[in-house]
Amino acid sequence: MKIARTIDELRTLMEPMTVGFTTGLVPTMGAFHEGHLSLFRAARKENDTVVASLFVNPTQFGPAEDLTRYPRDEARDAALAAAEGVDYLFVPPQEELYPPGYQTWVDVTELGAILEGAARPGHFRGVATVCLKLFNIVRPQAVYFGQKDAQQVAVLRQMLRDLNMERDLDLCVLPTVRDADGLALSSRNAYLSATEREQALALPRALATGSVGEARTRLASAPGITVDYVDTLEDGRVLAAAIRVGSTRLIDNIIVEGATP
Ligand code: PAJ
Repeated sequence: MKIARTIDELRTLMEPMTVGFTTGLVPTMGAFHEGHLSLFRAARKENDTVVASLFVNPTQFGPAEDLTRYPRDEARDAALAAAEGVDYLFVPPQEELYPPGYQTWVDVTELGAILEGAARPGHFRGVATVCLKLFNIVRPQAVYFGQKDAQQVAVLRQMLRDLNMERDLDLCVLPTVRDADGLALSSRNAYLSATEREQALALPRALATGSVGEARTRLASAPGITVDYVDTLEDGRVLAAAIRVGSTRLIDNIIVEGATP
C-alpha cells in the first residue's frame, strides 16, 4: 500500500490504473475498527483499485466538538488498511484540501438541517463538501459508506442526485457492524467508561423495538443517558436516534423490519 499526502502524488500513483480499470473509494477519518474494515473488504472485492482517505475533516466539526481530541494513529490505521488490501491511502494535511482563500461549499439544505444537522449545525455542509472534493480528486466508480451514519448516506445520495452525478458514481452502503452486545462500533466508544458503555446499550435495545414511540419511551427512562432525538428517516424506512452518555454523543439506527432498503 502506498501513502499519498498530496493530490498530485495520488494522481501520479493512480495514473497507470485509470483507463479501463475500476476504482473504489472509502472515505474515512481514521481510528479504524471492523466497521471501516468491512468497507475496505467490500471495495477490495468489487474494484481493481482501492483508495481509502484518512482525513479528520475540520469543517464537519462544530466549535464545541471533539476535533482536537478525535483519536489519531496513522501508523496503526495504515497497517490495518494495508492488511485489507487497500492500494492507496490518501492522507492529506488540512491545507491540501482547504488552502488559504478556500470558499466553496455544498449545502444539502433540507436533509442536511434536520436530526443530526439540527443538533450539529454545519456538520453536513462539511461532510458533503469534503466528500464531493474526494470524489473529484479520486474519480472513483464506486464509493463505500456505512449504514451506521444513515443520514450521511441520505445527504450524499441527495447531493449526487441534485448535482447530476448519480449515473457516474455507485454509492454502496454496508450494514452497521456491532459488538457482540449490540453496541454499534464507533471511534467515539473509546470515550466511554465501563458504566457508560453499559448504559449506552439502551440505544440499540430501544431501536430494536422498531417503533419510534416505544424507542422514545424506553430511552426516556434509561439511566445515565440524555436523548437528543428519536425519529424516522428515508420515508419511515430507518429508525434513528442520538443520545448523550456522559460527555459522549452516540448515534445509531436500524432499517425497520419489513421495509425495503
Ligand atoms: P468515519 O466516522 O471515519 O466513518 C467512515 C465510514 O465508516 C463511514 O461511511 C461510516 O458510516 C462507516 N462506519 C463507521 N462505523 C461503522 C460501523 N459500526 N459499521 C459500518 N460502517 C461504519 O463518516 C465519516 O468518517 C466522515 O463523515 C467522512 C464520510 C469520512 C467525511 O469526512
